[in-house]
Amino acid sequence: MASEPSLQDRAKAAFWPPCTHLTDRDLWPPVEILGAGGSHLHLADGRRVLDGISSWWCKALGHRHPDLLAALTEQAGRFDHVIAAGTVNEPVVRLCERLVAVAGGRAATVFLAGDGSTGMEIALKMALQFQAQTGHPGRTRIACLENAYHGETVATLAVSDCALYRAPFAAWCFPGTVLTGAPYRSGPTDPAWLDAGREWPGIRAQLDAVAGELAAVVVEPVLQGAGGMRVYSPDLLTRLRAWCDAHGVLLIADEIAAGMGRCGAWLGSQLAPNAGADLTVLSKGLTGGMLPLAATVVSRRVQEAFAGTWDSGRSFLHSNTYCGHALAVAVAHAALDALAPLLPDIQRRGEGLRARLAEVARTTGALGPVRGVGFVAAADLLAPDAIPSRLGQRICRAALAHGAFLRPLGSTLYLLPPLNASDAELDALAESLGRAVADVARSAERQLGIGGAPSDD
Ligand SMILES: Cc1ncc(COP(=O)(O)O)c(C=O)c1O
Repeated sequence: MASEPSLQDRAKAAFWPPCTHLTDRDLWPPVEILGAGGSHLHLADGRRVLDGISSWWCKALGHRHPDLLAALTEQAGRFDHVIAAGTVNEPVVRLCERLVAVAGGRAATVFLAGDGSTGMEIALKMALQFQAQTGHPGRTRIACLENAYHGETVATLAVSDCALYRAPFAAWCFPGTVLTGAPYRSGPTDPAWLDAGREWPGIRAQLDAVAGELAAVVVEPVLQGAGGMRVYSPDLLTRLRAWCDAHGVLLIADEIAAGMGRCGAWLGSQLAPNAGADLTVLSKGLTGGMLPLAATVVSRRVQEAFAGTWDSGRSFLHSNTYCGHALAVAVAHAALDALAPLLPDIQRRGEGLRARLAEVARTTGALGPVRGVGFVAAADLLAPDAIPSRLGQRICRAALAHGAFLRPLGSTLYLLPPLNASDAELDALAESLGRAVADVARSAERQLGIGGAPSDD
C-alpha cells in the first residue's frame, strides 16, 4: 500500500513559498509550525524557537497578543468586512484620525489598503496624479536612494534598488533616479549621526540634475530593511524635505518597516526635525502583524489637489476589495494602544540588543561592526567569499538548532525581535546566533574550497 505523502512533499507540490529558491526546500526543509505565542514559534517536533525577525518584521508585539486577539474577537461579533465605498463606520474613521495624529506635521487624511506594496503603490499613483492635476504633467520621475526597497509590485520594484528582486522585471520598470552616496552610519551612537553635511552636496547635485522632471522622492526613513539593514543619518531627511519644498517635489516616506515604533518613535522620520512627508505609508506593525493592513497618510496639499466634481477627472479612483477591513482596523486600534507605552524605552533597549550582537561579533570573530537603530541590530559576515557560499543561510538554519528562527539578507545577519521581547529572550536570541555562527564557521573551515551555490537570500 502506498504511504501517505509527507507534509514536506505535499508542500513542494502545492505551496509556492515567498522569496525562496524552490530547490532550497530540499536543502533546508521549511519548519512546520503548530502554534505561536509571544516571541516564540512552536514547531511540530516539540521545540519552541524565538522568532528573531518578528516574522518579516511585522510582529511588533509578538504572536497572539491577548489585547489584539480580544479586539479581533470583539469586532468579529459585530461585522467582519463591509465594502468601504459608500459605507462608513466609527472604528475606521477613528483609526484614520489616530494615524493622522501619529504622523503629525502635514498629515490630513488616510487611504487604506491591504499590504505594504499596495500602500506604496497608492502613494506613487497619488504623487503622479497630484503633479498632473497641479499643472506639472511632465513631472513623472521618481527618485529613490541606493539600496532602497519599496515592495514587490512592478511600480514599487521600479523605485527600488535591489537587483536581486528587480532584475527579472527590469523591462517593465519605468525609468527613475537612484541617488548614490547615502550618509550611512552605524546608528545613534555614531558621532556623525545627526549630520549628513558631508554627503549632501553629492546627493543634491543628483537631485538638481532631474529637478524639473521629478514627481517625488521616496525614502525608507533612516532604516533600509531589505537592502541590507542599513542605517543612515536622519539629517538627510531634513535636507530632502527642504529640497523637495523648494523644487515642487513631493516627499514619500515608506515607513512600512521603519514605522510603528521600530526605530524608537512612531515614525522613522520623527528622528529628524522638519522631515514630515507629504505621503507616509504604514503597514507591518500597524496591526502588530496580526492581520494585513496598510495606510497611506496624505497631506492636506495632496488631498486638496483631488477635490472636484465627478466630471473634473481629478478623482483618485483606486480601489482594493479589502480597503478598511474591519477586523484589521479593530486590531490596529489595539496595536496602537499596546505600542504606545513601549516607545520611550525602545532606543535604550535597542542599544542593549546591539551590544549583544557586538558580543557575538567579538567572540566569533566572524562579523563586522554592528549597526542599527531602534530595535534592530545588524552586522555583515566578514570575508563571506572566502568560505563556501550561502553562509548566511546556513548560519540562520543552524540557529534553529540553538533556539532561534532567523533569515539572512545575503551575508548580512540581523536581529529584529518583537518590541516587547524580554531581556532574557534577547540574551537567548544572541546566544543562539553566536552558537550558530561558531558551528558554521567550524564546518566551513573544514569544507573550505568545496564551492557552492551563488550567495543570496
Ligand atoms: C520598506 C518596505 N516597503 C515595502 C514593503 C512591502 O510590504 P508588503 O510585503 O506588505 O507588500 C516592505 C516589506 O518588507 C518594506 O520593508
